[in-house]
Amino acid sequence: MEVIEVSELSREIIDAISEVYLGNNDVITKALAAALVNGNVLFEDHPGLGKTLLAKSFSRVFGLKYRRVQFTPDLLPADILGTKVWRQNTGTFELVKGPIFTNVLLADEINRAPPKTQSALLEAMEERQVTIEGETLQLDAPFFVMATQNPLEYEGTYPLPEAQLDRFLLRLSTGYPKTLSDEMAILEARLKWKKDDPTVDLEPVVDRETFLEMQFAVESSIYVSKSVVKYIAELVRNARQNEMVEAGPSPRGALALLKVSKAGAAIEGRDFVIPDDVKRFAVDALAHRIVLKAEYSFEGITGEAVVRMALDKTHVPKESEG
Ligand SMILES: Nc1ncnc2c1ncn2[C@@H]1O[C@H](COP(=O)(O)OP(=O)(O)OP(=O)(O)O)[C@@H](O)[C@H]1O
Ligand SMILES: [Mg+2]
Repeated sequence: MEVIEVSELSREIIDAISEVYLGNNDVITKALAAALVNGNVLFEDHPGLGKTLLAKSFSRVFGLKYRRVQFTPDLLPADILGTKVWRQNTGTFELVKGPIFTNVLLADEINRAPPKTQSALLEAMEERQVTIEGETLQLDAPFFVMATQNPLEYEGTYPLPEAQLDRFLLRLSTGYPKTLSDEMAILEARLKWKKDDPTVDLEPVVDRETFLEMQFAVESSIYVSKSVVKYIAELVRNARQNEMVEAGPSPRGALALLKVSKAGAAIEGRDFVIPDDVKRFAVDALAHRIVLKAEYSFEGITGEAVVRMALDKTHVPKESEG
C-alpha cells in the first residue's frame, strides 16, 4: 500500500470517529497513530470525558475482533488470559481462552484491578504472546491494548506499576470540551441520536487485511533521516538527565517516539519523518515513563513539564542537516 492510501484511509477513520467522539480530533489522530504501529494506548482522565467512548469507537471502525474487559478489584489473571479446565469425558485438560485472544483489547478502568491482574497483561502487551499454566501461545496480529483509567488520586485505584506504564506507547488525556459550542455539540448530538451509545451505528472503515497493510506501509515506507534519529536520542537524553528526574525514559520510550512519529508522518501522507512529528508526540510518548524525585513530584512537577523542558533545550535539526 502507498503512503498516500494510508493517509486517505486514516482521514476516513478519523472522520468516522469524530462523528461520535466530538471536539478533539488531535486525540483521535494520536490514538490512530499508535494503533498503526501496534502500540498500546492508555487514555487517562477524569470520569465522564469520553475515554470508553473513544476506545470503543476505535475497535469498531478498525473492523478487528475486539473484547472488552471491565477491570474490577476481584478480577483475576485467569479472567483475562484463560485457564485449563479438566474435561471428565476426555480425561484431558482443555484450554479455555480468555478475552485476551482478540485483536483489540479494551481494558476499561485498568487501575481498578490489583497489580497481579494488571501484570497478566504485561507479556501480551510487549511480546504478543501469553503463557497459561506453562504453555506459551502466540496472539493473532494485530494485537494491541486500549486501556482507560482515572487519574491516580481517585480512591479505590491501584497505580499501574512502572513496568506496566512503560509498555504503553502513548498516554493520552481526552480532556474537557474546550469551548461552549463543543459542550453544546455533545448535548445536541445526544438529542439527535436518541440513544446513549452512538458507537453501535459505527461501521468498520477498514477490514483486518487492510489494517495490516496500513501497518506494513508505516513500518516499511517511511524514511527517517540520521538527523531526526539524533534529535529523538538527544531529546530522550535531555529528559533523562534533568536533575529533577529519578528515573527517565527508557530506550523503549525512545523507540516508541520513533515508531509513532513514522505513523504520524504516514497519516499526513508524508513518506519521511520531520522534527515536528517528533515534537507532536513527545509528551504523549515520554511523560508517563518519567519518575520524578519525591521532592519535585511533591511540588507538583510532572513528567510532562520535564519533556517540555527537554523540547526547549534540544537542538532541532533543519532539513538541510538531513
Ligand atoms: N467528547 C465527547 N463527545 C461525545 N460524547 C461524549 C464526549 N465526552 C463524553 N461523552 C459522553 O459522556 C458519557 C461518558 O463518557 P464515557 O463513558 O466514555 O466516559 P469515561 O471517560 O469512560 O468515564 P469513566 O472514567 O467514568 O469511565 C457518554 O455518554 C459519552 O458518550
Ligand atoms: Mg469509562
